Amino acid sequence: MTEEYAIEVQNLSKKFGDFLAVDNISFNVKKQEIFGFLGPNGAGKSTTIRMLCTLARPSGGDAKINGYDLLKQPDQVRASIGLVSEKMIMYEQLTAAENLRFFGNLYQMPREKIDRKTDELLALVNMTKWKNAQIKTYSTGMRQRINVIRAMLTEPQIIFMDEPTLGLDPQTTLSIRQLIRDINKNGTTVILTTHAMVEAEALSERVAIIDHGKIVALDTPQNLKKLVKDADLTVISARIPNLTPVMAEHLKALDCVTAFDQQDAYDIKISARGSEGFDRIIDSIRHDGGNITMINTNEPTLEDVFLSVTGKAMRDQSEKPKMSGRRHGPWGAPRARVR
Ligand SMILES: Nc1ncnc2c1ncn2[C@@H]1O[C@H](COP(=O)(O)OP(=O)(O)OP(=O)(O)O)[C@@H](O)[C@H]1O
Ligand SMILES: [Mg+2]
Repeated sequence: MTEEYAIEVQNLSKKFGDFLAVDNISFNVKKQEIFGFLGPNGAGKSTTIRMLCTLARPSGGDAKINGYDLLKQPDQVRASIGLVSEKMIMYEQLTAAENLRFFGNLYQMPREKIDRKTDELLALVNMTKWKNAQIKTYSTGMRQRINVIRAMLTEPQIIFMDEPTLGLDPQTTLSIRQLIRDINKNGTTVILTTHAMVEAEALSERVAIIDHGKIVALDTPQNLKKLVKDADLTVISARIPNLTPVMAEHLKALDCVTAFDQQDAYDIKISARGSEGFDRIIDSIRHDGGNITMINTNEPTLEDVFLSVTGKAMRDQSEKPKMSGRRHGPWGAPRARVR
């Protein structure tokens, strides 16, 4: 395995009957990176994670996890990873400490190490005082914190997290995101699936956008945004009280100007591309005795990236509608999570 990579995936596929849920995907995850998997409901995110965690058998392709062959060394793969799954796997009647002990025993961890890690991890998520309370008395956010530290118990080098903040309130969501950053800072590689675009962007060093089982784009959020047409467009509004046709012609002729719109005798709107020409526009307006009234940069979102690479909208139902009143796309209603 190349030293640089924690995970190397080659031509991985998963069929359910005739349905291709994961369609020949290849990607690498760097060591100690937070790698985001972003896509709409049914895109194949969980299926991919399940295959990489040895919980589902690939229909084709292969992967190396921590240098171990997914198909030939599943036990070693399992021993070196942690999973925060979509479904919480915890015993309601047991306390947090008992659940963690049960899980540690499955992994044949020494009792002393289980106890030490339990105290350390409960402290990390501010749950020490709930150590001996049954899970059934916990709020959703508390459960999710235990769910996350359960995956950290065995000190895996890689942690997979399938929608770690789904269904959590905004405050708990932020605290889980911070926990993910902290886990990563301690050297753990994190693979995260989400259909929250802000989450993918806020956490991930690189994001793979997945749709209909295929990776349609993969890069840093910053580079992905460059795929969007007019990503670097800035609109400058200005008022020039003594605006003359010569001044207008001069502004229009500047290299970076893509559109010039004179709204009345002295209000103008200029669209410009790139940042170099920017100073020249502002200098010219000032030179003409004008004032800048507004500058709007057109910072694209990952939603715009999705639209640009798939031709359809991807709306995350958990986010607030935009001011522009973007309509709901074929993202669909939130699925009832009863599986
Ligand atoms: N065990 C299964 N049998 C048949 N079809 C399945 C099975 N598991 C998943 N699928 C189908 O495979 C596709 C991908 O599902 P998957 O759960 O991987 O999507 P996802 O990207 O995780 O979506 P979500 O955001 O809703 O969690 C879906 O169409 C799903 O219905
Ligand atoms: Mg899923």
